[in-house]
Amino acid sequence: MRISGKAAAQLQELGVDVRTAVSLAEQTSLGIGGATDELSLRRYETIPQVMRLLENEHIPHRFLGGGTNVLVPDGELSWVVLHLPAARPGVRVEGNAAFVDASADLGGMVTFCAKNNLGGMEGLIGVPGSVGGALRMNAGAYGTQIGAYVREVELYRAAAGEVETVRGNDIRFDYRHTSFAPEDVMLRAKLELPSKPYKEILAGIRVCNEKRRSSQPLNQKSAGCIFKNPPGGSAGRMIDELHLKGYRVGDAMVSDRHANFFVNAGHASCVEMLKLIDDVRERVRRVYGVELENEVIVWQN
Ligand code: EPU
Repeated sequence: MRISGKAAAQLQELGVDVRTAVSLAEQTSLGIGGATDELSLRRYETIPQVMRLLENEHIPHRFLGGGTNVLVPDGELSWVVLHLPAARPGVRVEGNAAFVDASADLGGMVTFCAKNNLGGMEGLIGVPGSVGGALRMNAGAYGTQIGAYVREVELYRAAAGEVETVRGNDIRFDYRHTSFAPEDVMLRAKLELPSKPYKEILAGIRVCNEKRRSSQPLNQKSAGCIFKNPPGGSAGRMIDELHLKGYRVGDAMVSDRHANFFVNAGHASCVEMLKLIDDVRERVRRVYGVELENEVIVWQN
C-alpha cells in the first residue's frame, strides 16, 4: 500500500520514519512476502497519536515485530507495516525484575538477564523474534513459557485507543495463546526472574542450543513450527510418520530435519506455502482424524 504524501508528512511530524515499497520477504524469517510502505516509530509515547492518524486517514496497518512467526501474502499488500522504536539492548534490570521493550530481541533479552544473574528463561534462548511477539504468543520451548515470568504488560489497547498497564495475573497465558486482543500492541513488560549464577544459566542455555541444533533446521528459512501440537500429540511426529519430510509444493518444503518446520527452499511464494500447509493438514486429518491448528500466523491481504 502506498500512503499519500499528506499522510506521510503528518507521520513524519510525529517522528515516524517512512520508507516506501519495502519488500517484506526481506523482513520475514520465511523470506516470503510482498511489498508495502513501512512506518518506523521513533518514540513509544507517540503511539496513540500515530494510531489515531492512521484510523482517520483510513490506512490499514499491522505491526510486524521480528517477522519470525508470520506468513505474509505475495504481491502488493493492502496495509502498511509498523515497527516499534528499537532500543539496544531494550532491557533494564532492577533486583529480580527486568523491564523490557517489546521491540527487544528475545534471545538478546535472555542473554542480558543471564549476565545479570537472572535465569529461568534458558529454554527460550533459540526462539527467534521480538519480546512483543513472544508475549503475544506466549512463546515457549523446552518447558519454559515466557508468560510464567510476566508481572506487568504495558500495551496499546486498540479498542480504547489508549496505553494501559495490565497486571500479569489478569492475563491468560495458554499454550501459544494469550488473552490479548488481536489488535492490541505490546509495548513494554516487567518480568520477574529467579536469581541464578551466570555460569549455571549458561550451562542450561548450551544444553537447549544443542538440542535445537540437533533437531531443527536452523540454517534454513522457516517460521519455526507451522502447526501447534494437538493435545497429547506431536504434529512433527505425525507428519514424519506420513513420510512427508521433503514433500514440496514449488519451493515450499517440509523440512527433512523436523517435519513440523516448513522451509522456503528457494523462492517459495505465500501461495505455495499455504498450499503445502493445507495439503499436510488434510493428509493428517485423513489418517489420524486430527485437525491441526496453525501455529504460524497467516496474514490476509
Ligand atoms: N518428531 C519426529 N519427527 C520429526 C520431528 C519430531 O518423530 O520430524 C518427534 C520427536 O522425536 C519427539 C516429538 O516428535 O518425540 C516432539 O518433537 P520435538 O521434541 O522436536 O518437539 P516439538 O513438539 O516438535 C515443540 C515446539 C517447538 C520447540 C520444541 C522444543 C510446538 C508446536 N513446537 O516442538 O517450538 O522448540 O518443542 O521445546 O509446540 C515453535 O513454536 O515454532 C517451535 C519450534
